[in-house]
Amino acid sequence: NGMKHIRNFSIIAHIDHGKSTLSDRLIQETGIISDRDFKDQILDTMDIERERGITIKSQTVSLPYTAKDGKEYVLNLIDTPGHVDFTYEVSRALASCEGALLIVDASQGVEAQTLANLYLALEHDLEIIPIINKIDLPSAEIEWVKGQIEEDLGLDSETAILTSAKNGIGIADVLEGAVEMLPAPEGDPDAPLKALIFDSHYDPYRGTIVHFRVIDGKIKAGDNIKFMSNDASYKVEEVGVFQIVRVPRKELSAGEVGYLIAGIKTVSDTRCGDTITHVKGGCPEPVAGFKDPTPVVFSSIYPVASDDYEELTVAMEKLQLNDASLIYEKDSSAALGFGFRCGFLGLLHLEVVQERLEREYGLSLILTAPSVQYEVEFNTGEVEIIDNPALYPDPTTISRTSEPFIKASIIVPERYMGAVMKLCLDRRGISVNYQYLTNGRMDMIFELPLAEVVYDFYDKLKSITQGYGSFDYEIIGYKETDLVKLDFLINGERVDALSQLVHKDRAVSRGRVACEKLKEEIPRQMFKVAIQAAIGAKIVSRETISAYRKDVTAKCYGGDISRKRKLLEKQKKGKKRMKMVGQVEIPQSAFLAVLKSD
Ligand code: GTP
Repeated sequence: NGMKHIRNFSIIAHIDHGKSTLSDRLIQETGIISDRDFKDQILDTMDIERERGITIKSQTVSLPYTAKDGKEYVLNLIDTPGHVDFTYEVSRALASCEGALLIVDASQGVEAQTLANLYLALEHDLEIIPIINKIDLPSAEIEWVKGQIEEDLGLDSETAILTSAKNGIGIADVLEGAVEMLPAPEGDPDAPLKALIFDSHYDPYRGTIVHFRVIDGKIKAGDNIKFMSNDASYKVEEVGVFQIVRVPRKELSAGEVGYLIAGIKTVSDTRCGDTITHVKGGCPEPVAGFKDPTPVVFSSIYPVASDDYEELTVAMEKLQLNDASLIYEKDSSAALGFGFRCGFLGLLHLEVVQERLEREYGLSLILTAPSVQYEVEFNTGEVEIIDNPALYPDPTTISRTSEPFIKASIIVPERYMGAVMKLCLDRRGISVNYQYLTNGRMDMIFELPLAEVVYDFYDKLKSITQGYGSFDYEIIGYKETDLVKLDFLINGERVDALSQLVHKDRAVSRGRVACEKLKEEIPRQMFKVAIQAAIGAKIVSRETISAYRKDVTAKCYGGDISRKRKLLEKQKKGKKRMKMVGQVEIPQSAFLAVLKSD
């Protein structure tokens, strides 16, 4: 029975605690790839990921390993995305594992996503090996972290493995630990096929490559398979395992992890969490826990130059091939022309998509203010979901609106408690609970409207806690709210793409602040520009940008040439991202600035 010699596990950690570095080391140590080929971070294949140091697209790797007992093992390391936006994907990857390595940074200690990831792993009954990483740092405090592992995580710190992924210390212990401490998979190779999809990616030559774990049964080339969520059926062309490159195999059996190719055109035809079985003699029940991807943040994307719409269309299609969680549909705006209304898993997802479109496809884009999905109930009793402020119905027809709430866990040193409390209350939050952790830190639990965190909440939290605050959230459901639509008029013309839905109590102050922001963001024109905020027909705030003086650099006092040059550079750069709305040039930054709270 080959299953005894398989170990399936993920590495989970708070961002930056060293997950990618450790994965790379494990791969290097098992020798499936030569040092010369070894790139800095092979698991993080996309540029953006590398630059931002975050893992978005998971990749899995099968590592052959000869343990101290002299036996050959296969260690399947299933990489998980490292951000709160991708919790569902993480949960599917964990459902494919028996164990997890939980990394804690030796100088930072336990943080919000350490806890969140641990809870996820425990939900899947995984065996957990704590890893204390970065022990090479002078600021490493191993005993302190061990204390946290015991008290905050409830794990046995005796079993913790000490590593420096950077310097290659403790790597062999991790491999040996995985063999000794993690259970082998269970499953029945003779039962009907049941395999769990935890990821997929697009290959221009082969189509969609589906990543899966076989729970029961066997799968091989030539099999007729189907996806249980939508009954789509395919003929398998190839199965195999990942060893950085794809290595075809004759068959994959219960307990194994690998890929299949079956002429599937786009990744949106495969769903993370779906179950694969045979068309004939399939398994009766799918793997539990399947969910459709649920976007929570919506925004419209427009090209700065209307001529670029075709290019944007092509780019969106290509991008979606590799990102099944990106959903979009055609959209149009009176002010901005044709574009796309898009749904994202979270703000980070939105930023990544924007960056990829701009960088990989050379497009210059305008994104409208991110919005959440509101539930609107009409006087007629009908209910509609609205995520686009431009489509918000006439308020007199509405009997009730609700908005999504999250449960947020914020971990901070105690001294920031007051500041965090104030931030959350300012954002219409409700303090639910708090708990003291070790070493003067606390875990504060709030319920907050999602709309209040989608923009700059995390940045704010970081700044008021001097970088010490960490944040994690989950959506808990809808609560009744009182919304108004705030419109903006530029020289009397309503700019639909600037409209936003705001809680009634803060609409007036939001309107005022946003007008001030727009005044800062919109450059002077040849004529006077009036900026107004309005609720319905009522103007609630007004600012005026006076007409442009010939020499823009004249307002720089003194003759500081470098300062003048900077200003000119800034204007030139800004130019590329200007959108003509009526007669006024509005920079890209203005569309997001209206959301800022101060
Ligand atoms: P995400 O992909 O964002 O989740 O981050 P990650 O957890 O994968 O962290 P990553 O491996 O990218 O490491 C984050 C930073 O910590 C990088 O600058 C690494 O070089 C550094 N790092 C990782 N391991 C060690 C270590 O053992 N010692 C030291 N000194 N630095 C380390």
